[in-house]
Amino acid sequence: MKIPQHIAIIMDGNGRWAKAKNLPRTKGHKEGAASVEIITKEANKLGVKYLTLYAFSTENWARPKTEIIALMNLLEETLDKFLNNPDKNIKIIFSSSRKKLPAKILKKMQQVEKESAKNKGLTLNLAIDYGSRQEILEAISKLQKKNLKPTKANFEKCLYNNLPDPDLIIRTSGEQRLSNFLLWQAAYSEFYFTKTLWPDFREKELLEAIKDFSIRQRRFGA
Ligand code: IPE
Ligand code: IPE
Ligand code: MG
Repeated sequence: MKIPQHIAIIMDGNGRWAKAKNLPRTKGHKEGAASVEIITKEANKLGVKYLTLYAFSTENWARPKTEIIALMNLLEETLDKFLNNPDKNIKIIFSSSRKKLPAKILKKMQQVEKESAKNKGLTLNLAIDYGSRQEILEAISKLQKKNLKPTKANFEKCLYNNLPDPDLIIRTSGEQRLSNFLLWQAAYSEFYFTKTLWPDFREKELLEAIKDFSIRQRRFGA
C-alpha cells in the first residue's frame, strides 16, 4: 500500500454526531478530540510524515460564545496532554493566524512547539484559528515587507508552515467542500470524502482512505 507523505483532514461532523445521540454538541467535540489522538498515533505508526488537522477555522469565531468556550477548553486540555505526557516521536506545529486565540492558549502552543521541536517521527500540524485566505494575505504582506520577488518558492516560505503539499485531503461527515482550507496547497491533492462523522473516524476508516488513495493515478498535468 502506498502511504501518503502528507495527509490533511477536515474534521467535520462533531455536532451531528452528538445530535444523533441526543447529546450536547460539546460531547461531540470531546469524542472528536479522542479521534485526534487515535488518528495521530495511527498515522505515525503507518509512516505518514505530516498530518495536518483542521480543528478551528477563522469563520468558526462566528459560532455561539458557549460553543467557542467549550472548544477552547478542549484545545487547552489537548495541549496540556501533549505537555504532560509527550510522545517523544511526534513533532507538533501550528498553522494559525494567532490573532484571536486567548493568550493562555497561545503560550501553551509555543511551549508544545518548543518541547517537541526535535522529535523525528510524524509532524502533527494543527490548523487552529486557520483560514487559507488569511494565510495567503499574510504571506503577501510578508513578501512585500521583505521585498522579495513573488516566486512560488518565496511565497511558500511566507506561509504559516512550508510543508510539502498534502497528497491526500480527507473530509468527514459527507460535506464536499474546502471551507477555506489549504487553497494554495491543495492544487494537486487527492480528495477523499466520507459520510463517517469525525468522532467515528478511527483506525479502520483511516486505512480505508489510504487504500483508496493507493490506487489513484496522479498525473500532475504531465
Ligand atoms: C467539526 O464539527 C468541528 C469544528 C468545526 C470545530 P462541527 O462542529 O462543524 O459539526 P457539525 O458540522 O455541526 O456536525
Ligand atoms: C470546517 O468545518 C472547519 C473545521 C473542520 C475546523 P465547518 O463545519 O466550520 O464548515 P462549514 O461551515 O460546514 O463549511
Ligand atoms: Mg461542521
